[in-house]
Amino acid sequence: MMGAGKPPTTGKLPGKRLKKGENSMKKNLGAKTLVYPTPVFVIGTYDHEGKPNVMTAAWGGICCSSPPCVAVALRKAAYTYGNIMARKAFTLNIPSEKYAREADYFGIVSGRKEDKFAKSGLTPVKSELVDAPYVKEFPLNLECKVIHVVEIGLHTQFIGEIINVKIDESLLVGDDRPIIEKLKPMLYAPDSTAYYGVGEYIGRAFSIGKI
Ligand SMILES: Cc1cc2nc3c(=O)[nH]c(=O)nc-3n(C[C@H](O)[C@H](O)[C@H](O)COP(=O)(O)O)c2cc1C
Repeated sequence: MMGAGKPPTTGKLPGKRLKKGENSMKKNLGAKTLVYPTPVFVIGTYDHEGKPNVMTAAWGGICCSSPPCVAVALRKAAYTYGNIMARKAFTLNIPSEKYAREADYFGIVSGRKEDKFAKSGLTPVKSELVDAPYVKEFPLNLECKVIHVVEIGLHTQFIGEIINVKIDESLLVGDDRPIIEKLKPMLYAPDSTAYYGVGEYIGRAFSIGKI
């Protein structure tokens, strides 16, 4: 990680690049869900009895700037699927890496069988804006209302309009370093089913490409 202070906007970029004319052999892997990285989202919902539930989702990301929207893709088998269909709302919570065990647990066990909040010791907080709970201990929480449901195949995509974003104040105050360094979100590599932390700073977007 670069030192504290403002990241540089110029300078040599890390990594070895191919020289012009140099060949790199490509191998066809076929049709696979292979993208690096995917996020580690934790989706918060209420079930039909009002019990809060959480599940982990890697198939998702921002999908519109205005209105601000995020998309997540869920299998119908997930308890969360029915919860979202019924309530038309969810929260999207970003765990920091110190909560890796909890985030993984939320993706192994179904809320149909266990009270995941109770077992993990994490705290559900009722959103004031949407009909879903968020995870108090996770630093970033998006409160979303479902505006589209897209049937794709095995997964159904829920597009949620982001009504509000909550972030731990400690990540914002008294320091001008990028939030991502403090937030320490997890990354997921689908092929190897491995979690990673965020790596080195590379450069500033819409800037280093000005050549
Ligand atoms: C890292 C990780 C990523 C996952 N991503 C998704 C996903 O994007 N969509 C999905 O339907 N299930 C995904 N799962 C599986 C669900 O989290 C899992 O089926 C969970 O038990 C569902 O919980 P629920 O039944 O309480 O809703 C993922 C699991 C892990 C560990």
